[in-house]
Amino acid sequence: MPFLIFATGNPHKIKEVSQLLGDAWDIRSLPEMGITEELPENQDTLEGNALEKARYIYEKLGENCFAEDTGLEIEALGGAPGVYTARFAGEDKDPDANMNRALELLRGQTNRRARFRTVVALILDGREFLFEGIAEGNIRLEKSGAQGFGYDPIFEPDGFTQTFAQMDAALKNRISHRGKAIQKLIAFLSSRATH
Ligand code: IMP
Repeated sequence: MPFLIFATGNPHKIKEVSQLLGDAWDIRSLPEMGITEELPENQDTLEGNALEKARYIYEKLGENCFAEDTGLEIEALGGAPGVYTARFAGEDKDPDANMNRALELLRGQTNRRARFRTVVALILDGREFLFEGIAEGNIRLEKSGAQGFGYDPIFEPDGFTQTFAQMDAALKNRISHRGKAIQKLIAFLSSRATH
């Protein structure tokens, strides 16, 4: 079974991605590798941050790995918070404070269009590959739901009347930014495995 490190310590991301990758791949997260430090994220793009995290782990452990970075891009805010999504309301990365800031900035705003974008960076035998996943939708007027994490309670994806936080994990995974990026990663890995 191919061995691959998922360069994250975020338990929510580990859970979502493990559900998608199933048993076909032996995926290890950073806590399983004994790594608890925060990874560097000093770039000003999602692509840059995903690559920075993957390169850091590839150089440290010398094992094939992938990392991802995700941002929420709100149209009426000119695409903000984007790469600064985690720290939108401050350095403590508090999800409630982040959502409150977004709701506050959009108060009275009729254009509530937004999208989540995930970039996955894979390093396989020293070669780098990027995969992108996008989920389009709207920012709700208030929070709803308790599943998921981060901004899920205020994001309603197109084609649904629930927020991500009101969906079960399997449905979110099928239509989400991260789910789509990981599905591309799986297709790429599967095609290589059969060649
Ligand atoms: P990062 O990719 O860990 O830097 O996350 C950036 C920010 O986006 C954090 O505030 C996360 O909580 C948030 N975030 C990442 N993925 C999701 C998601 O699937 N749903 C809602 N919020 C997310």
